[in-house]
Formats: sequence, structure tokens, C-alpha cells
Amino acid sequence: MPDGGASTVIVEMREEVWRANGLDAQDESAAAAWCAALFADTLGGRPLRTNNSSWIAFRTVVNERWSHGRIVLLGDAAHTAHFSIGSGTKLAVEDALALAACLREQPALPDALAAYEAERRPVVASTQRAARASLAWFEDLATYTDQPPHQFAFNLLTRSRRVTHDNLRLRDAGFTDAVAAAAGVPTGTPPMFTPFRLRGLTLRNRVVVSPMDMYAADGDGTPGDFHLVHLGARALGGAGLVMTEMVCVSPEGRITPACTGLYAPQHERAWRRVTDFVHAQAPGTAVGVQLGHSGRKGSTRRMWEGIDQPLPDGNWPLVAPSALPYRPGVNQIPHALTTAELGLVRQQFARSAAAAARAGFDLLELHCAHGYLLSGFLSPLTNRRTDAYGGSLAGRLRFPLEVFDAVREEWPADRPMTVRISATDWADGGTTPDDAVAIAAAFAEHGADALDVSTGQVVPDERPDFGRSYQTPYADRIRNTLGVPVIAVGAISSWDDVNSLILAGRTDLCALARPHLYDPHWTLHAAAEQGYSGPGAPWPLPYQAGSRTPPTGRTDAPKPRLTLH
Ligand SMILES: Cc1cc2nc3c(=O)[nH]c(=O)nc-3n(C[C@H](O)[C@H](O)[C@H](O)COP(=O)(O)OP(=O)(O)OC[C@H]3O[C@@H](n4cnc5c(N)ncnc54)[C@H](O)[C@@H]3O)c2cc1C
Ligand SMILES: Cc1cc2nc3c(=O)[nH]c(=O)nc-3n(C[C@H](O)[C@H](O)[C@H](O)COP(=O)(O)O)c2cc1C
Repeated sequence: MPDGGASTVIVEMREEVWRANGLDAQDESAAAAWCAALFADTLGGRPLRTNNSSWIAFRTVVNERWSHGRIVLLGDAAHTAHFSIGSGTKLAVEDALALAACLREQPALPDALAAYEAERRPVVASTQRAARASLAWFEDLATYTDQPPHQFAFNLLTRSRRVTHDNLRLRDAGFTDAVAAAAGVPTGTPPMFTPFRLRGLTLRNRVVVSPMDMYAADGDGTPGDFHLVHLGARALGGAGLVMTEMVCVSPEGRITPACTGLYAPQHERAWRRVTDFVHAQAPGTAVGVQLGHSGRKGSTRRMWEGIDQPLPDGNWPLVAPSALPYRPGVNQIPHALTTAELGLVRQQFARSAAAAARAGFDLLELHCAHGYLLSGFLSPLTNRRTDAYGGSLAGRLRFPLEVFDAVREEWPADRPMTVRISATDWADGGTTPDDAVAIAAAFAEHGADALDVSTGQVVPDERPDFGRSYQTPYADRIRNTLGVPVIAVGAISSWDDVNSLILAGRTDLCALARPHLYDPHWTLHAAAEQGYSGPGAPWPLPYQAGSRTPPTGRTDAPKPRLTLH
């Protein structure tokens, strides 16, 4: 430490606190005196010196290019990472090492600089993601101050997502056990295998098979053998809740001709076959239906034939809050629904909800995300109405809430309802994280039992910040601001992440989509890998013989000693 034992002190506060204390109007020395008075106990009479000490909001620097001609950027000039994860110097030194190596390895300067950038970019992107998560954590600290002390400490330690439950358990099992015990998690039970109650439904663990359109219906909206096998397999795979794909409330509300519906008697019978299978063969697994209407994103091809592309022929007319096509010149211009037509759509949702109840579903989710009809009402980018169903957020919420109420009316009182939202449009002028909290609050007030927090897919020119569990902060914010249960979704793929998110109080449930396409038994395998065999993840009796991780074929037996000591 230079200067005979001096330390750097960082004082952080929320902007409103800074303004309320008049710090915005004080110069450097007055601000330092204010800080010295506040931390007098800690300073113990030592002076607080300034050194160009200004109040700043940390800026994460990103550059499209790191070199130009003979000029090359490294370290903080190329990229910054919030100091709360302590990685900036490491990145700068690694940059220097990589640059030196690339200059030696590549004879031509442009090739050397390209190789340097290619080598360093992924590492920097990952560190910046972690740093941004940590920065957001500190900036939103007020959201967590009501958490119990153990959970708060665990949340703090896992804030960047780089340190997880498993990392911490290896380093200090006493700490993770204490956090778990304080959260009521029985000893020896991974947090993901604790039950969670939503109204009259108790889920036996925290894993949800996220809704996934299979584009496998026969053309009239009826789920067939594929759906039975697909959902049945996932129900046997151990998740607490298995969701259907978006099930459409009318033929014109389908995304593609291969989407399923719940608007005809044969649909109800076919879905009953699925729910009967789940309840009989995978007892304890809940099966939920996601109800939706495609709006302006309807009449398109199956995912693998061209997602969001209009059908080659046989397109049907689209409806939406406003006559704005999803992609001008590509997708149809939808018809802006009249008030009378809104009433009809509302009835279609209600009718499908009644059918879903008769079909035996345990939970109903209203799809208000991803730019489909109800999501289209919520976003200011897609709802340009000038009547009572547009304008302010209250206006934009009106129709989705009317639908929610109509569905809730038909849906049995003891069965839970969730709502999936896009918590940001990832586009200028779209839904903001603050809007998302207000939207969640409105649905919760109308009786939503949990919010399923997704993002985006509302407008095509979005700029999502993809990365590991990238949508979780939006769920976290809703949960910890409103105290409403949430389902986090999006790039959550390891059981360690699920345990970490649950124990840190960032989410109540974790929905996994693609991992369940990779492995229908994702939850059972997570249990086996953690050596857990309790009630949170029982293996179906016919599968019990396979309930241990298969041997690898490698033997860990002692190696022959080639020297004697
Ligand atoms: C409060 C705080 C705590 C941190 N804690 C950690 C930590 O624990 N671990 C960690 O790894 N990182 C930490 N960092 C980040 C780390 O300090 C930086 O990432 C690192 O110093 C970047 O190194 P650099 O050489 O790229 O830039 P710098 O260290 O900023 O060096 C740039 C130098 O260039 C000089 N300079 C600027 N303009 C000119 C000019 N025109 N002519 C000549 N010289 C110029 C500057 O004076 C400076 O000396 C922290 C940062 C802060 C602010
Ligand atoms: C094949 C496929 C189909 C999907 N269909 C739906 C759907 O019908 N309804 C919905 O809300 N989300 C749908 N999604 C989004 C997923 O539910 C999930 O939010 C997304 O894939 C991110 O989670 P993951 O990273 O675990 O895959 C679909 C995703 C995939 C991969």
C-alpha cells in the first residue's frame, strides 16, 4: 500500500439518497467532510483525503473494435468491469499477455491484432456479464434489505452468478448448511427439492418444464400421440410442474397450423388423455396449460421452416391491438381489434379456460409475453391505441387484465394461475423493468399466484443481452420488490444455478426449456448427481433400477506404484 498505510474508500448510495443529502450541490472537500462525519466511528480519527474524488455512476465500457491501424486497446481502455468483482487488473494483465503472445505468433500485425481480440473477447464478455450482475446487485441493494441475514449473505456472495451454491458448499459447508437451515431447507436436501405451494397446489420441487411449442398438431389444433409421449416423458422426468406449449384459444389465434388449441370438444378429450397419463403414471407431478393467442405473430411457419415467416399459402387474417405488422413488408398488417371484437376474444379465453379445467390441468398460465396478442397490448411499441385500451400503462393493461379476470372466473378457485410476461422489450421505447414491476403488481392484485418472467420477442429489432440466466434479474426484481412469487426462466441450465437462485431468494421456481429437450429426465438426473433420493424427486418405479449415474467405465482404483519410497 503506498503512502504509509492509506486505503481507498468507496462510498456508494442510491441517487435519491445522494440528492436528499444535498451532495449533488457540494464540492469535493465538502462531500469528503460529510463522508468523514458519517463514518467517524470507522475512521477513528484518521483523515479522509480526496484525490479527484467525484461522484460517478460506474460505466461499463465496451468497444466494437479494439484496434485501429497500429493502435490497440487493452485493459480498461478496451473494457471495464465493475470493481465489485475485482477483475479489472486481471483482465488488463491477461490482455497484455495475450497481445504479447499474438504479436510473437502472427507475423502480420493485422492478423496478430485480430487473434488477440478473438482470444480475449469471450473472456471479457463473460467477466463483464458477471460484473454487470454484481453492479446491478449493489445498485438494487435496497430490494434485498428485508431478506433474513443468512439469505442476504448468501445472496451477496452469489450476486455475480460466478460463485454458486456448490462452490460455497465446497469451501464452507457449515455456511451453506446454516443458510439452508435458516430458510427451512431440511439437512441433506438440495434447495431445488423443497416443495412450493401455489394456492391449492403443492409442487414437490422447484423445477418447471417451460412451455415449448412442438409444432406437432395435426392441423386442426388437436394434440396427438407426439404430445402425449413428449409431455408424458417429461412428467416421468421428475420436474415438479410440466407446462404445455402455448395452447391457442381459437384457430386464428394459432401461431402455425401445427399448434394445439383448446377451442373444440376433440381438443379437450385429447388433452384429458395427457393429464390422465401424468396423474396416473407420474403421481405428484403437476401439469399446467399455457393459454394464448398469437395476435400479429400468427399464421406463420413451424420454427424449423422459418420462425415468424408467413405461410407459403393458406394464411389467415391477423388481429392485434394496432395495425402494425411484426416485420413491415414481411408479415401481414393485422386488423386492430374493435371493442366488440375484444369482447369475443375475451370469451374465447374464458371458454378455453373452462375446457382446460375439465381437461384436468392443475395450473393455468396466461401467455402475456413474447409479442403475442396480450403481450402486444402491454408494450407501448405495439399498442398505439387511442381508446381506453391503449395509452398509459393502465390503459395498456386493461385488456390483458380483463382477460385475466374472465379466465380466473372460469378457472377453479383452488387451482393456481400464473402469468408469463416479457419484462423488457430489449428495445428503445418499449416495456422497461419498472413497467414490468407495475405489470406484475397489477396481475398479482387481480389474483395471479405467480409471475413467469421472460423477456423480449415483442419486436424484431430487439437487442437482448443473452448470457447465463440473463432474465433472472427481472424475476428477482419483481419478487423482491412486490413479494410476489416468481418463475425465473432463460438459460438456467445447471442444477447448481437452480439451487443458488432458490436459496438466494431470487426466484421461487425455475423453468427450463431447452435443457428438457436435451434430457427429459433432467430433474431426476440432477437428483442422482447430487446423491439425493428424497420425496422431491422420486424415480418412477419402473425406472428405479436406473436411478444411479451409470458407471463411466473408468476405474479409480489405486494405480500400480512404479517406485518404492
Ligand atoms: C475502486 C476500484 C477498485 C478496484 N478493485 C479491483 C480489484 O480488487 N481487483 C482488480 O483486478 N481490479 C480492480 N479494479 C479495477 C482496476 O483498477 C482496473 O481495471 C485496472 O487498473 C485497469 O488497468 P489499466 O492499466 O487498463 O488502466 P489504469 O490502471 O486506469 O491505467 C491507465 C493509466 O493511464 C494514465 N493515463 C491516462 N491518460 C493518459 C494520457 N493521456 N497520457 C499518459 N497517461 C495517461 C492514467 O493516469 C493511468 O495511470 C478496481 C477499480 C476501482 C476503481
Ligand atoms: C422449441 C421451443 C418452443 C417454445 N415455445 C414456447 C411457448 O409455446 N410458450 C412460451 O411461453 N415460450 C416458449 N418457448 C420459450 C421457452 O419457454 C423459454 O422461455 C426459453 O426457451 C428460454 O428458456 P431455456 O433457456 O431454458 O430454453 C419455447 C422455446 C423453445 C426452445
